[in-house]
Amino acid sequence: MKPKVFITRAIPEAGLDLLRPIAEIEVWEDELPPPRESLLQKVKGVDGLLTLLTDKIDSQVMDAAGATLKVISQMAVGYDNIDVAAATARKIPVGHTPGVLTETTADFTWALLMSAARRIVESDNYTRDGKWKTWMPTLLLGPDVYGATLGIIGLGRIGQAVAKRAKGFDMRVIYRSAHRHPEIEKSLGVEYVPLDSLYAESDFISIHTPLNDSTYHLINDSALAKMKPGAILINTARGGVIDPDALHRALRDKKIAYAALDVTEPEPIPLESPLLTLDNIIIAPHIASASIQTRNKMATMAAENLIAGLKGEKLPHCVNPQVYR
Ligand code: DGY
Repeated sequence: MKPKVFITRAIPEAGLDLLRPIAEIEVWEDELPPPRESLLQKVKGVDGLLTLLTDKIDSQVMDAAGATLKVISQMAVGYDNIDVAAATARKIPVGHTPGVLTETTADFTWALLMSAARRIVESDNYTRDGKWKTWMPTLLLGPDVYGATLGIIGLGRIGQAVAKRAKGFDMRVIYRSAHRHPEIEKSLGVEYVPLDSLYAESDFISIHTPLNDSTYHLINDSALAKMKPGAILINTARGGVIDPDALHRALRDKKIAYAALDVTEPEPIPLESPLLTLDNIIIAPHIASASIQTRNKMATMAAENLIAGLKGEKLPHCVNPQVYR
């Protein structure tokens, strides 16, 4: 009998093609994630779970799945939606998809940075609204990107890929990370600075840190108050790193110039959010990794992790390898 797998949403065929021959798969086909009750029902007796960042996978879900559950495989690099400690306590390996989305996410970060600096979304609206009457010396001015200072919070894979792009724009790159990276400082020409200096000196600040207890609302009133009035804040990591109310105050009062977000707290951002009343913010619907090639790779990788777990083999990309000790 094939092992049973529940997949919490339709994923690219590349992943499903790998799974079909080896598992009996059920896919949640709705556009929206399974509601809690449906999730708890659907996981009953499964051997494997393929999840997305929109699913809260906690001990209740693991218990609802029961003793058959051998593996949880997340189609994302981030896994803050999964109670990894609860999985580890049950000896369930958790897989994720690092590496394959690094460059794509860095590209999108750059797209947001450029769009915010050069006011591309506003320009498009201006044109469509019929406001373009003539060339004007002071129309839609923004700061230069080349030669500016970029502050990177979190110099992991994606932070480094963003730093590389910045070097092509002759930027000074400063960073703060949970760990210092002397080798990378040399190879990429980036400087490690205290967080307060990063806030004070950066023209652009880009967030690439995971969401955890120490990064939750890291960007709050106090952090925003330390930034330059012309600062542009970019977040392609997790919405919870920024306090949305503090960001609203800072943008409204022009304490900082602009924000460009791919992630919000909560997601999706409620339409009544005051952030959506501002014109100095761009908000994308969490699509930084959304290239065709990358989403195929993420689905493939998630399927490979799942298959390894179903076979009792080590997951190629496991977030809790202590389950194997
Ligand atoms: C991730 O992988 O964690 C991103 O947020 C979605 O690609």
